Amino acid sequence: MMSRVGVESLTPRTPPNTEKTTLKVPVKIRVNGALRESEVEPRLLLVQFLRDVCGLTGTHIGCETSICGACTVLVDGKAVKSCTMFAVQADGSEVTTIEGLSRNGELHPVQEGFWECHGLQCGYCTPGMIMTSVQLLERNASPSREEIRHALDGNLCRCTGYSHIVDAVEYAAKKGGT
Ligand code: FES
Ligand code: FES
Repeated sequence: MMSRVGVESLTPRTPPNTEKTTLKVPVKIRVNGALRESEVEPRLLLVQFLRDVCGLTGTHIGCETSICGACTVLVDGKAVKSCTMFAVQADGSEVTTIEGLSRNGELHPVQEGFWECHGLQCGYCTPGMIMTSVQLLERNASPSREEIRHALDGNLCRCTGYSHIVDAVEYAAKKGGT
């Protein structure tokens, strides 16, 4: 008589569900004055939220490891490298990006300084440089060149040699900065 051992293993089984169930979390972030509501994966970085969910691509991604500063934005008024923060951590916050600086079509004084003093070449570092400079001038309306260099030491530029960037921030300070 044939053994029935193993018969069960020949019966087709429902294949395992390989589809990943992704947990999404609701977030509400006010970006440049407009409330943005979305459901995001907890691992989504703030910089990705700004670029991919909000479509604000002025905030750049350079290193994604908190070194270059290209991704700097203001979160509740503080300059933050947005690759170091999850979007869910910014829930309930006010975020300002480079797109939110100009008013009524007028450049912000720091933007104007970069324009007038040739504070950029390729421009990749520029949004981050400007956002960090805005915070500096809010804290110190008349910084020395050394203080400007110190404030910007977390923002890397591969093109300008920095002198024109320092000129740009000095220009903005003379114009009343913020
Ligand atoms: Fe965030 Fe470089 S991309 S610090
Ligand atoms: Fe090119 Fe700064 S202007 S990296």
